[in-house]
Amino acid sequence: MAIFEKNNIFVIETQNLHYVLGVLDNGMLQHIHFGDKCNVDDYEVMPFSEENSTISPLDSLKTEYSTFGSAIFRETAFKATFADGCRDTRLIFDSSENIGNTLYIKLKDQHYPLVIKLKYECFESNDMISKSVIISNEGADDIIIEKMYSAEITMPSKNVYSSVNSNGCWGNEFEMQTTPVNCGELVYESRKGYSGHTNLPCFALSENISEDNGKVYFGLLQYSGNFKVLINRDSNNTTRAFIGINDFDFKYALKCDESFETPTVFCSVADGFTQMSNRINDFSLEYIFPENFRTKPLPVLYNSWESTEFDISIENQTKLAEIASKMGVEYFVMDDGWFGKRNSDRAGLGDWFVNKEKFPNGLKPLIDKVNSLGMQFGIWVEPEMVNADSDLFREHPDWAYHFDNRNGSELRNQLVLNVTRQDVKDYLFNCLDELLSENNIRYVKWDMNRPYSEVGGENLDCPQSVWYYHIMSVYDIVDRLKKKHPDIQFESCASGGGRCDLGAISHFDEVWTSDNTDPVDRLYIQNGYSLFYPRKAMRAWVTNSNDGSRRVALDYRFAVSMQGVLSIGSNLLKYTDEEVETCKKYIELYKRYRNVIQFGDLFRLADLMNNPYCITEYLDKEKKQGIVFICRGTDSLFKNNYAVVKMKGLEKDRNYCIDTGNKKILKSGAYFMNKGIDFKLYGACKSAIWIVTTE
Ligand code: DGJ
Repeated sequence: MAIFEKNNIFVIETQNLHYVLGVLDNGMLQHIHFGDKCNVDDYEVMPFSEENSTISPLDSLKTEYSTFGSAIFRETAFKATFADGCRDTRLIFDSSENIGNTLYIKLKDQHYPLVIKLKYECFESNDMISKSVIISNEGADDIIIEKMYSAEITMPSKNVYSSVNSNGCWGNEFEMQTTPVNCGELVYESRKGYSGHTNLPCFALSENISEDNGKVYFGLLQYSGNFKVLINRDSNNTTRAFIGINDFDFKYALKCDESFETPTVFCSVADGFTQMSNRINDFSLEYIFPENFRTKPLPVLYNSWESTEFDISIENQTKLAEIASKMGVEYFVMDDGWFGKRNSDRAGLGDWFVNKEKFPNGLKPLIDKVNSLGMQFGIWVEPEMVNADSDLFREHPDWAYHFDNRNGSELRNQLVLNVTRQDVKDYLFNCLDELLSENNIRYVKWDMNRPYSEVGGENLDCPQSVWYYHIMSVYDIVDRLKKKHPDIQFESCASGGGRCDLGAISHFDEVWTSDNTDPVDRLYIQNGYSLFYPRKAMRAWVTNSNDGSRRVALDYRFAVSMQGVLSIGSNLLKYTDEEVETCKKYIELYKRYRNVIQFGDLFRLADLMNNPYCITEYLDKEKKQGIVFICRGTDSLFKNNYAVVKMKGLEKDRNYCIDTGNKKILKSGAYFMNKGIDFKLYGACKSAIWIVTTE
């Protein structure tokens, strides 16, 4: 039984964990436990009493979902204003309901017609619990919601927790930072309209954590819009995490008989970061990815952006495709520049019609050519955006977000379309649907290259809900296109990794992690990404864009990009026959091991933050096949030539063969894990790929 109740104590049980809450005598809901299982009969609520006149008992209570109202002075999960101006919410337990693996706890305001249902879904074998909140207005007047986190999670111990999140930027996404939460508040958020390059809509709190040991409490928000993660530690040393839609410039008018469900948070408690990452990966493969390609290995693709940028022609794309096909590439994706008057980033966005000068007979001849070379064809779009220099903007200037008496701020010469308008949504859906219906396109790279400003939403009753509706419209257009064109894969891109989050991964099949394709930088980016997000979604290109600043062998570039979904982005017109052969060799190898990489377990044996090497091991679920990538960083030429690789996750009594390229080593799993393999790699930016098999 996954969910059970006894004397108003509710236990959500997964394979190894309990999430427990209970109802106090006064009807308030108390958080009791989240962690390893205990004897169910031992759980009890803890009544609270007066402290002193400067601290309210409500501040100390382990609330399950706190509301602004009564004497509470700390961060709360919810705040609303009722029609009479009252800004005070007081929720009392009403009832509970169990449907399958889902528990609903119904809370009602003591006076106003506000009903809040806390929804918990239990994913037993994955040790994951989802939380969301359904808010309903059972009265006649609007209720204005100003804040509604999806979850509030109280940490069990009074010790100082460390919080892990990213402090990235364009080109340096997923720069992981660990911050001790001694006191006060730590906020990770986005105010840009999309999840952005800086912080992640996730939390991970731990004491003394390592890859293999220590408890980590984590949660991931399934949402790509403005989010807020707030961690605080109060004067009683209680640490709480709040996660959900950002309350920045946000309001939602809940109408009579209307309900609103917050985005879902997926939470768990793991032993060490490795278990956390692998749990998220497995869970995403089972429940998060869109179904069409969830269980299918993703293809090796070529993307033409770094080769031709806006200077696209049938000739240059054909030449690139011919070389790509020789290498064994499976999808050929033509990037920006094929539509409208798109010869630079100054014009064309919004005009999703084939540029007749570049493609006089439409896209068909190029697509036919690509198909005849044995590859599928993919295309780039940026539907949410418009250039002032476009037919669309000249015809519908009011379709871009704006305030009547303010100039629209352009970034990369573009403005943001108000996709919350039905006419704009229809226009975009129809353009894309036509493009996909008329052409044999199997891959769409959906880009989005600027934060939103002057976000006027005069079409909405409550303009400050525009941030929420924008991302919902994006999800809706993508979902409808996917439904109508089930064979097409969708990639989420936002100036690199600006829209990599669990929300995006629920609607798109893969994500573009960063525009920075320098392989050394990429090792840091990929390491951070792999902590929270599934590697099956992680597109990783081999390119030569950094040749001027850091020369790195092609072998090294492959050793890095093969750690996600291998793609090629180099200017193949400049490749020698020998380089093409090298690409072919690695693409073949990747195809043999991509199931292990995309679906197996990942062990981060060493990272470049703390070691001269980045070493990652991927192992299939049967623990029979694996692949190890060893990439040395840019450190001293005379030091650190020697290292030891200690494998993880193998069966200790099983015999394995590790092929290092130079020799095959036959030993037991125990030997490889406990003793390890001594090896040497001379010089910076050297790499090796090892293959693990069973005898
Ligand atoms: C930003 C993306 O991240 C790049 O990969 C490329 O698609 C450009 N946009 C095209 O404008």
